[in-house]
Amino acid sequence: MNRNAVVKGIGHALPTKILTNEELSKTVDTTDEWIVQRTGIKQRRICGPDEGCFDLSLQAAREALESSGLEKSDINMVIVATVSGDWDWPTAACYVQDQLGLKNAGAFDLGAACAGFIYASSVGTAMIESGQVDNAIIVGVDTLTKQVNWNDRSTCILFGDGAGAIVLGHQESTTRGVIKTVLLSDGSGAPHIMNELGGTKYPPKSEEWFARTYGIKMNGNEVYRFAIGAMGDACEKVLHDAGMTADQVDLFVPHQANIRIIESAAKRLNLPPEKVFVNLHNYGNTSAGSIPLALYEASKEGRLKEGMVVMTVGFGAGLVWGANLIRW
Ligand code: UT7
Repeated sequence: MNRNAVVKGIGHALPTKILTNEELSKTVDTTDEWIVQRTGIKQRRICGPDEGCFDLSLQAAREALESSGLEKSDINMVIVATVSGDWDWPTAACYVQDQLGLKNAGAFDLGAACAGFIYASSVGTAMIESGQVDNAIIVGVDTLTKQVNWNDRSTCILFGDGAGAIVLGHQESTTRGVIKTVLLSDGSGAPHIMNELGGTKYPPKSEEWFARTYGIKMNGNEVYRFAIGAMGDACEKVLHDAGMTADQVDLFVPHQANIRIIESAAKRLNLPPEKVFVNLHNYGNTSAGSIPLALYEASKEGRLKEGMVVMTVGFGAGLVWGANLIRW
């Protein structure tokens, strides 16, 4: 009897403050036209000083748990994918575990940047399929607007804050659930997108720390080039490993970084626009939050129904990338 990891609940969280391209162009040398043309982004949500990664994680996890119909005591694991915790440690996952009162759960964070949700879902799936845990809450969340350099127009226009979460639970003798995942990496690309301050190499207030500018540093063209290849490669590999073809995919939910990257992947896979979910115009790139937030909206809009096959794909700092196929 097979034991699958099935999506049993879904939730999301967004800060209330909206920052439009027009507003941004009052403080940064950019225009709405440039941002929309080059990225597809029109606005993004940004956390205020009293909002952050931990609270977005908690809200998304709470909604996912409520929608699953499971009891708190049923949850055995919390995995939060993030690279922008409120503090370095302890983890966002432990905050969620405590605030939700999950007395039977282990908890840990996982860092795979914008591909974090795919990585975390893969770990949760393996734990469930092996019988180690029965039910896990998987959160993808980032608050990168707190890490951007607001003087760097090539990066600050891209990111927004947000979170999504699912409850993955065991189910026997079903065709539903996570079908296949591929996870890939190329650490030689680390310099292309990174935040070198915030770790321990350059301790805060040291000479080396003062000599550097805080914030995300990115070689946009390199990341773009990598993403164009990686998205299509990961999708083709996951389809091949599952013995499936792209025409069996009902909905494609890619990482929401840039509309040009999404359209290129969809074209390579021969997926028509009605099978491609896009919400980046509203939220920008929410990093690990992007895929689960898109899954949440797709399911609320009725575009993702039980039994449908969804393919997600993501890429990000590391460099890391991956894709998965889920029968919803
Ligand atoms: O999850 C992973 C996160 N990272 C990504 O997904 C990034 C992937 N890369 C990209 O999406 C694109 O490379 C960007 C959107 C970042 C940049 O688009 P691009 O079409 O590659 O533009 P570019 O960097 O080649 O810059 C073209 C021009 C430059 O001016 P010159 O040298 O041609 O005079 C830039 O200085 O556009 C200028 N520019 C801007 N102009 C207005 C760069 N940023 C801006 C801006 N507003 N915000």
